[in-house]
Amino acid sequence: MRRSFSAPGRVNLIGEHTDYNDGFVFPAAIDFAATVEITPRSDRIVELASEHYPDTFSFPLDDPDAKARRCWTDYAQGVALVLHHSGYPLSGADLFIRSSVPVGAGLSSSAALEVSCGLALAAISGHSISRLDLAKACLEAENEFVGMRCGIMDQFVSTHGCADSAILLDCRSLEYRVVPLPASARLVICNTMVKHQLAGSAYNERRQDCETAAHQMGVPSLRDVTAAMFAEFADALPARIRLRAQHVIQEIERTERAADVLMMGGLTLFGRYMYESHESLRDAYEVSCAELDLMVELARVQPGVFGARMTGAGFGGCTINLVDAQYVNQFRHEVAAAYHEATGIAPDIYVCRAVQGAHEITT
Ligand code: GLA
Repeated sequence: MRRSFSAPGRVNLIGEHTDYNDGFVFPAAIDFAATVEITPRSDRIVELASEHYPDTFSFPLDDPDAKARRCWTDYAQGVALVLHHSGYPLSGADLFIRSSVPVGAGLSSSAALEVSCGLALAAISGHSISRLDLAKACLEAENEFVGMRCGIMDQFVSTHGCADSAILLDCRSLEYRVVPLPASARLVICNTMVKHQLAGSAYNERRQDCETAAHQMGVPSLRDVTAAMFAEFADALPARIRLRAQHVIQEIERTERAADVLMMGGLTLFGRYMYESHESLRDAYEVSCAELDLMVELARVQPGVFGARMTGAGFGGCTINLVDAQYVNQFRHEVAAAYHEATGIAPDIYVCRAVQGAHEITT
């Protein structure tokens, strides 16, 4: 019997480059998703096909020499192999994948792919996997098989997302709080349509800098550094490492505060934290770029905008804007026109809804 599963992409409201430092993040799952149609096979082969690519790819579940091929199939193969070898033995299957998550835009198209395939494969193999185990298997696939040293934010929110809410996640304990989003505001995502080459290697370098900073301060991770402790140590750190650590330490604190403020309906103050986060990512963490900075500046002067910042890893991709529902159409129109005029690029602007995490959609 054919069954279908779906897993969403995400947008992060605040808490950037904090997940792999054991800090807080505040993402929402959004109404762009990867969907998988899956049919069991009688052998132990998994075959992957996609609406977006002409070729199919198959692999045996028991191949000890399986290696990433540096293409979209790695995410699906990686999670299949991790599940299969960590207590969730899988049956062979044919998977057909579609995705509405823009690729390379920083909205977690890869996490959506991993989670939807992992859920589908586990389900047809007779396992009821917990959302947390699924998120962890997907993270392991990305870290170990694909070779991207990302944190758990994307996989966690793709599995745990809640309708009309953001998730405040403590990436150390993996405890989380569901925070309803105010009905009067909309999540508006502006895609700069640029992706700078640096993205993959610069990400791993930032992570390395954070590990160096924590090591030099004698703590397991930057989550363990309080503002007072940082003030004491900062002068002894090399300039670049100091700036990276400063961003992470402040952003972890800012994210927890921002989620509290939003719970009490404080949209204006929450928006101020968003701007602060952007400035810190631009000046201290140095993961923004001219197009992202421009998009934030164009948004900031529009009526009805509470806050704006880059979202995701950086070096291109999208900004997230919290906009008064009444001003959304005007915002779209004005920002798109101004960005086009300044850069010659027509941006995509999406008004998103926060949605539930991965689930079966078989009809
Ligand atoms: C990417 C990674 C996440 C996170 C963000 C930055 O999206 O996949 O784990 O580190 O960058 O906040």
